[in-house]
Amino acid sequence: MRKKIVAGNWKMNTTVAEGVELAKNIVAKLGEVPNDVNLIIAPPFTHLVSVGNVIKGTKIALSAQNCADEAKGAYTGEVAVSMLKDAGCAYTILGHSERRQYYGETSAKLVNKIKLALESGIKPIFCVGEKLEERNAGNHFKVVGTQLSEVLSEVTAEDMLNIVIAYEPVWAIGTGVTATSAQAQEIHAFIRKFVADKFGAEVAEETVILYGGSCKPSNAKELFACKDIDGGLIGGAALKADDFIGIAISY
Ligand code: 13P
Repeated sequence: MRKKIVAGNWKMNTTVAEGVELAKNIVAKLGEVPNDVNLIIAPPFTHLVSVGNVIKGTKIALSAQNCADEAKGAYTGEVAVSMLKDAGCAYTILGHSERRQYYGETSAKLVNKIKLALESGIKPIFCVGEKLEERNAGNHFKVVGTQLSEVLSEVTAEDMLNIVIAYEPVWAIGTGVTATSAQAQEIHAFIRKFVADKFGAEVAEETVILYGGSCKPSNAKELFACKDIDGGLIGGAALKADDFIGIAISY
């Protein structure tokens, strides 16, 4: 049985105090979440230790939203993956479309980041997804296939078991327009086939593939019911404990 995961990407939102409060509110509602649904929250770097203290000993795992593509040293403004480990992270989001779009994140950089994360025992939540014009041109499979093959080129089958993939169509992120469950399922099935072809059927069967993009309590159930959708990477709705838990209990 594959893991079910609901992950909250807080992006660049909340003060430390607000983040601690949000985490406390999520913890207070954990009793409502089915045992087999795993939760992850990804606050900004500055909140990791404080939020980590709130969720310590609960089933919620801590994630960062990015890491450096170098291990340590003179890289002003960057945060090394070993520092994330030290701060209590089990995961880091990598390759989010906002980083690709605004901060020049390339597949070459992601190859290094994934390698460093795996070496530090941090599980990457590796994001892929096409832009609206790419979907309209019918190129979504090609775009996602290229993102996968460029970044997972040096990954072994054993490594792959520690990588979560998130399919986030860029046109669905923060827009209120969710992919239909049929649109999401067909890409998730395509991603699982990619993993099966490259790493074998057993690894593909274990690989967790999350959907992200305007996921909310009202549409989560239908998305999560799809065969190849193993949970969600939640943006806006992860900033309210009721909505985040509402999504988690939709499973
Ligand atoms: P929204 O849920 O706000 O659309 O964001 C999705 C996302 O980008 C999560 O990483």
